[in-house]
Amino acid sequence: MPKELMAAYDTLAHTYDQNRGLFDMTDVFEDFFKVLDPAPGHVLDLGCGAGEPIPGMFIRRAWQVTGVDFSENMLKLAQRYQPAMKRIFADIMELELEEGAYDAVTAVYSLFHIEKESHCRLFSNIYRWLKPGGKALFTYATKAYTGADSFSGYIEFMSVSLFYSHTTPEALQQMLLDIGFDIVAMDYRDIGGETFLWVTVGKPAMQKTSSPGRDHYHKTLK
Ligand SMILES: C[S@@+](CC[C@H](N)C(=O)[O-])C[C@H]1O[C@@H](n2cnc3c(N)ncnc32)[C@H](O)[C@@H]1O
Repeated sequence: MPKELMAAYDTLAHTYDQNRGLFDMTDVFEDFFKVLDPAPGHVLDLGCGAGEPIPGMFIRRAWQVTGVDFSENMLKLAQRYQPAMKRIFADIMELELEEGAYDAVTAVYSLFHIEKESHCRLFSNIYRWLKPGGKALFTYATKAYTGADSFSGYIEFMSVSLFYSHTTPEALQQMLLDIGFDIVAMDYRDIGGETFLWVTVGKPAMQKTSSPGRDHYHKTLK
């Protein structure tokens, strides 16, 4: 596990929690909720932090939530705020989960801490963990935050130096399409004075197969 980042978030947990209100996720959540099947399902939240706001919003709509985080202090807060959430203490990159188990996957302000060289493996895992027809929502860092087209390095956040990494939005889009995702939305949003790319992708209900010369679909048997 990247111990330095785990320690940083353990230190940050209390401050982060106290300042959580600076980042209003209501619009993001409402937009994402519109593209989900309205029946309550099971969401996997990667980098769930203190269990607010995203896990709380799903729980209040009767969804089952599994939250993953590698900060023990964040998970302790999550236990207090969202006792109904199943908590997994793990590095997102070391997770082994059941294929097709989730109706939705969210990763809010977390994936940009993972080195860009691992993003393809991570998004492929998310694709595998989603049910056919499932959707994922994640925040992606871009030049608007780091000042560089492509970046791996340290930026100060709430007085703590944290590792961030991203490729270009164009390379991200191509990576997601190559994995098989449909792109539902890619929007820059300024929330709490910070601009990130907010990406919603879908795993097709009917899987695409490559058949030369014509589009061919078959129903996923699961
Ligand atoms: C900025 S906080 C966001 C928390 C929450 N999603 C929110 O919106 O408040 C990032 C969280 O991701 C977690 N995190 C970052 N990288 C991780 C990794 N590789 N594995 C597990 N958790 C990670 C951190 O511990 C932290 O709780």
